Amino acid sequence: MVAIDFGLIHEAAQVLLSGGLVVFPTETVYGLGALAGDASAVARLYRVKGRPATNPLIVHVASIDAARKLAGEGWNPWAEALAQRFWPGPLTLVLPRSFGLADAVTAGGPTMAVRVPDHPVALALLQACGKPVVAPSANTSGRLSPTLAAHVEEDLGDSVDLILDGGPCRAGVESTVIDLTVNPPRVLRPGPIAPALLEAVLGGLATGPGNETIARSPGLETRHYAPLTPMMSFDDYREAVQHVAISRAKGHSVLLIVFEDRQADIVLSAIPSMAESALYAALHRADAGRPDLIVVVLPPDQPDWWAVRDRLKRASRGMDLLQA
Ligand code: TXA
Ligand code: MG
Repeated sequence: MVAIDFGLIHEAAQVLLSGGLVVFPTETVYGLGALAGDASAVARLYRVKGRPATNPLIVHVASIDAARKLAGEGWNPWAEALAQRFWPGPLTLVLPRSFGLADAVTAGGPTMAVRVPDHPVALALLQACGKPVVAPSANTSGRLSPTLAAHVEEDLGDSVDLILDGGPCRAGVESTVIDLTVNPPRVLRPGPIAPALLEAVLGGLATGPGNETIARSPGLETRHYAPLTPMMSFDDYREAVQHVAISRAKGHSVLLIVFEDRQADIVLSAIPSMAESALYAALHRADAGRPDLIVVVLPPDQPDWWAVRDRLKRASRGMDLLQA
């Protein structure tokens, strides 16, 4: 249980309402909050993250009712069904854009992303604030997302107004993002809510057997969710081990990460939700030792593992070229 300091929540809400930036815990990762209707606060948020203006933000609200009000005409039966089933929780709905958002929130586009986070501190803050709050992950753009307040402190500590510490984030990877403006709905970012669960509610879903069939969210074309250390990912354990051996023979320090009970420097759970929850903290730890290279053996290419595979592949994107 997280003990909630309502005095501090009130203070944080005041900071948001007066145009400031507040970092708060959610069940997925820590978010960097700003009022969604405050153009200058949102502009500062983009600057602090070094985020490209082409990458839109997720609007966070305290309840399904607040989301309905925000979406207005754009709310639809899919949204209602998913919200009833998964909110508060790690699911973000893309809907037609509504009024009252700073232009930068949607990157000028015709759609907006919205979710109700499942964390007592986040919900208390949103309630106290009483207005929609944008919250990208509280990290420099392109870097690893934070699942501990200490991660945020190190990355953005000097440039935000307040950090609320809620301990480790339970889910550990960013919310599943689903686009409800297309028919059938389409998963834009795999996350803690697996495709099969969405499909059970919606009846149909535009995702195929592999990550490649999942359309990209805007602004995610480059290396993303990445440690500072170069990282390489392999599907095959033996191939990975061979690469590690060769690199070490050349005198490089290399960290090997795997997802099962095998010989490695960091062993993550073979259960997807547990691996998700530990993933970023493990990568932050690996990075902190400043090795020359991080090598990871990817978990199986199965729907339950899409979120983990997606983050690891993005983190290692471009490294194959560097190695060549
Ligand atoms: O779990 C989460 O979603 C966390 C916590 C803090 O709530 N937030 C988060 O925000 O991951 P961020 O900004 O790091 O990622 C937002 C994702 C990006 O991939 C962005 O492209 C996508 O949501 N997105 C936002 N608005 C969109 C829209 N209108 N259409 C499509 N994708 C959108
Ligand atoms: Mg992010």
